[in-house]
Amino acid sequence: MQAYQQQYLKEMGIDVWVDRQAEQVLNVSEDITASNVSKAITSERQIPEPAPKSVQVFPEALATLKKEVSTCEKCELHTSRTQTVFGVGNPDADWLIIGEAPGADEDRQGEPFVGRAGQLLNSMLLAMGLKREQVFIANILKCRPPDNRDPKIGEVIACESYLRQQIDLIKPKIILAVGRIAAQNLLKVDTPIGKMRGNQYQYPDSKLPVIVTYHPAYLLRSPREKRKVWEDLKIAMRLYKNIDA
Ligand code: URA
Repeated sequence: MQAYQQQYLKEMGIDVWVDRQAEQVLNVSEDITASNVSKAITSERQIPEPAPKSVQVFPEALATLKKEVSTCEKCELHTSRTQTVFGVGNPDADWLIIGEAPGADEDRQGEPFVGRAGQLLNSMLLAMGLKREQVFIANILKCRPPDNRDPKIGEVIACESYLRQQIDLIKPKIILAVGRIAAQNLLKVDTPIGKMRGNQYQYPDSKLPVIVTYHPAYLLRSPREKRKVWEDLKIAMRLYKNIDA
């Protein structure tokens, strides 16, 4: 584990130990105070500087898919986007994080979760012992809906096969769906997210486990909910730990 991460976890009041073989954070104390959790997933000053931007080289099949997505005109969103936002991260990742759709920052930079919500997502990942580069981050939609409106059902359907192909190629061991839109569209349900939390789901037509939690943008508006998110992340970590066990 990196020194910055140890410090990060200590400052958030989480006791951790590391399985040197698996190099995964294995245990997280249960008695985390609300204020510590809040500090944990807010504090931006402890987040390491992002690596200098470079063009990500994907394996051929994923690169081909990215290229196909970049010229997609399957729905109206292609007329208003600056560029498509395919996804970023480790093409071999165990963890796939799925959000809703690019916002203004993401549309400009071509990378998911780069705005304030993205900073918070990075913190959530660090709290789990995961660096952004270790996971793969993608969205339900690859193009920004104008004015950040909710995705329309036709847009979700048009984009669906891209996400499914990403999942087939990356072969993650677990999906973390952040936010209502991601959770409901991924799992094809209309259950309120508050009711979905705390349960384990499977990606349709597969055994791939899915855990649902609140969107970091929601946490920016409702910081008191961070405690619940930390509970969800702990469920996800426990589940992940037992996948190969
Ligand atoms: N919110 C999302 O759901 N995805 C992004 O990429 C950015 C913000």
